[in-house]
Amino acid sequence: MTQSGSERMEKIVALSKRRGFVFPASDIYGGINGFWDYGPLGVQLKNNLRDAWWRDMVECPPLGPDGHPLSIVGLDSSIIQNPRAWEASGHLSGFSDPMVDCRETKARYRADHLRVLRSRAGAPAALFAFVEGEPEVALKRARKVLGSSKVESDFDELALAEVSAAERALVWAPGAGAPGTLTEPRDFNLMFKTFVGAASGDENIAYLRPETAQGIFLNFKNVLDTSRVRVPFGIAQIGKAFRNEVTPRNYIFRSREFEQMEMEWFCAPKEAQAWYEFWTQTRLAWWRSLGVSADRLRLRRHTADELAHYAKTGAGTQDVEYRYPFTEPGFGELEGIAHRGSFDLEQHQAASKTRLEYFDPQTQERYVPEVIEPASGLTRGVLVLLCEAYDVDESRPSPEILRFPPRLAPIKAGIFPLVAKEGMPEIAEQLYLALRGRFSMQFDAKQSIGKRYARMDEAGTPYCFTIDGQTLADQTVTVRARDTGAQERIAIESVAGYLEERLAG
Ligand code: GAP
Repeated sequence: MTQSGSERMEKIVALSKRRGFVFPASDIYGGINGFWDYGPLGVQLKNNLRDAWWRDMVECPPLGPDGHPLSIVGLDSSIIQNPRAWEASGHLSGFSDPMVDCRETKARYRADHLRVLRSRAGAPAALFAFVEGEPEVALKRARKVLGSSKVESDFDELALAEVSAAERALVWAPGAGAPGTLTEPRDFNLMFKTFVGAASGDENIAYLRPETAQGIFLNFKNVLDTSRVRVPFGIAQIGKAFRNEVTPRNYIFRSREFEQMEMEWFCAPKEAQAWYEFWTQTRLAWWRSLGVSADRLRLRRHTADELAHYAKTGAGTQDVEYRYPFTEPGFGELEGIAHRGSFDLEQHQAASKTRLEYFDPQTQERYVPEVIEPASGLTRGVLVLLCEAYDVDESRPSPEILRFPPRLAPIKAGIFPLVAKEGMPEIAEQLYLALRGRFSMQFDAKQSIGKRYARMDEAGTPYCFTIDGQTLADQTVTVRARDTGAQERIAIESVAGYLEERLAG
């Protein structure tokens, strides 16, 4: 039975709550829109993805075009910085989304996420707004207003921005009882404000960072002065970012608190375009190396009107996109690779009156480096891993499986005594104690063995080792593989080697 994207997404969300990957934040209080908590399995999966990125960027960075390893160092900067930094970076004036409000329902929408069904030429003008991807909401309302025989082909679909000023009064907002309730779009800054210190006046306002990148620019000189890096080099950072998104949606895809994995690559202006191409290909290849299928990944170049305020004119930004269940058959962003030029360093140099130049000892040139930025979402990456791993095998007693690549699986192996008697629990515990420092394992002696296997399939655990009657006789254990359900016997002493071999890569 094939599932639609939204059915599949519902199943993924339900499984991930049931098994403890992701919970709505403040669940017992009814949640808080746009915030999520990562449960025991979720935090482990997130840490594994984070560690893979850190290893492949900082500890063991890619080889450059000359065949030598690139130079990339790490950083962990503060979430709250001097507010002048956000003025200089352009976030105070430019980091906003256009929003519209519905005066009747009080709902708030991102103007560029609203689309409209307009009755076709000849018919009386009537327009029904809907949030991108949910045209059925508009069609339902249209049938109430214009008659139940209406079908989608009776309408043209357009963006809200394409609706003429004269027609605005005729637009029915989602859930509104009358047309004309949507306000004109106005800019809404996405930065969360807070106050530093005891007073809460304007002079104490500070902002939660909306990107980890700025902490890197602010530390460019510190890193240059204290490490042995030379241009070209990178500074990488993983951490929380906060955006007061107008419409957080699609589960953890767009949240208000999330984590980013960003690297700013500082290079000579004349080499920047070549590095931009290099990083675009390298980052796409990285996601593939994690087992994300090539046909669900693609690169897409930003159109001129999508470019961020810092993007270098004419140089472009490309996104690595993934085909999420809720974007099918289309794709949605996973990572952006931006050519930021020298925008950020120039801005901070001017505002802080601190020289942020690089002196090249070989060419004797002094310049402000240009920056190529691969910026991905850690929590969005977790969503990709969940979507990619989710599978249903109706032939199994418990059909839902998460097929994580073993290296990223939250739990690498289950260790089970077949029954809780005849010395089996003791042997299983010994095995567990011997291996637990090397692999993330779970010891479980409760319920039937079938239920324990099913639980591990839902957690995405690639292998289970069962101590049974035969173990007592010949020191072998049963290995059960998640992906096939197949079982084989191996010597208890070769369990560590068996796992090591399969977790590499
Ligand atoms: N420093 C550049 C920058 O922040 P971005 O495209 O706005 O660029 C980079 O963000 C990545 O961060 C995105 O590709 C996405 O994976 C993730 N991201 C951005 N906003 C997000 C949100 N509201 N929720 C979850 N992830 C988000």
